[in-house]
Amino acid sequence: MPAALSDPLPLARGPAWPNRLALAPLTNWQSHADGTLGEDEYRWLTMRARGGFGLTMTCAAHVQASGQGFPGQLGAWSDAHRPGLERLARGIHDGGSVASLQLYHGGRRADPALTGQAAVAPWDDAETGARALAGGEIAQLIEDFAAAARRAEQAGFDGVELHGAHGYLIGQFLDAGLNRRDDGWGGDLAGRSRFLLELIDAVRAATGARFQLGLRLSPERFGILMPEALALAQRLLGDGRLDYLDLSLWDCFKPPQDPAYAGRALIEHFAALDRGPTRLGVAGKILDAATARRCLAAGADFVMIGRGAMLHHDFARRALADPQFRSIERPVSRAHLEAEGLGPAFLKYVSSTWPNFVAADG
Ligand SMILES: Cc1cc2nc3c(=O)[nH]c(=O)nc-3n(C[C@H](O)[C@H](O)[C@H](O)COP(=O)(O)O)c2cc1C
Repeated sequence: MPAALSDPLPLARGPAWPNRLALAPLTNWQSHADGTLGEDEYRWLTMRARGGFGLTMTCAAHVQASGQGFPGQLGAWSDAHRPGLERLARGIHDGGSVASLQLYHGGRRADPALTGQAAVAPWDDAETGARALAGGEIAQLIEDFAAAARRAEQAGFDGVELHGAHGYLIGQFLDAGLNRRDDGWGGDLAGRSRFLLELIDAVRAATGARFQLGLRLSPERFGILMPEALALAQRLLGDGRLDYLDLSLWDCFKPPQDPAYAGRALIEHFAALDRGPTRLGVAGKILDAATARRCLAAGADFVMIGRGAMLHHDFARRALADPQFRSIERPVSRAHLEAEGLGPAFLKYVSSTWPNFVAADG
């Protein structure tokens, strides 16, 4: 019998999540230019915690000033961010949800116009002008990820998720096509995954025994090869260092791009791996309760809801109460999204970047 969406999710460390519906990390442009928490970001996230999500995950928060990729992005790189993070963790807990801070560095996709410095990457990147990181800078990055995780813990967050998906810095290290470093931080899979594995150990060493550590991965695209993604996932699901692995699939029942894996959806390939105590979550086009249940039936332990949670702050509560629940059809009016707690900056981001979400005349 697959788990029910309403079943609590116990993890190897830290508090059980009250149910299997998690808020996906969503960049929303609503914090201040210096990375301190903005009022609209606080409202957006705490409304989702009150809306019934078992886990409330923040947007990707940068761990160094140089890692910022979006305006109004939440920061976690300085003690100046601590008071806002404390308030946010408290607000999420008051809503009855477990709190996780997503940590990232944009790497070659950081925005020099925002950071005032050249972007950095594992390699010299002709496409963006990013320069290759020196060995000492890689060690500093690992320290800064760990320091941001410790800051999150001290601020009251139950855990952090490392953003290894979508071709940002952690994913850039994993990139099989482009990361050809020959100094131990690139080349073969062992070299390309070293940054991620050292990050995991550094975060564990910097935080307490009950701190929840998750990882988000892309199973394909962004230079990620399916056999490597499977091997890495198997290692991480098996060795117990992570509490959960969150697969960013963009469409939960998508077939793999790699024809060698045809015949089964991506989710099934990963759900078939030996899991141990590490939980497996999936994100991508879960816009109704039936699809969320189908993901659990396919072997996921939990689902991450992105656009559905933008459309309905209480997607989780509704999906738990009504097995037939479906999100409203898109595009939706600005007024609808405002009532669901999206402020002007988030609306601007969504309407400029995500087609067919906000009605043109709405
Ligand atoms: C507006 C927007 C912002 C996003 N920001 C992030 C982010 O900060 N970190 C991340 O890992 N994924 C991010 N994503 C991806 C979502 O977490 C999610 O995986 C994706 O939207 C697919 O789920 P959905 O179909 O339920 O929206 C973002 C997606 C959207 C639409």
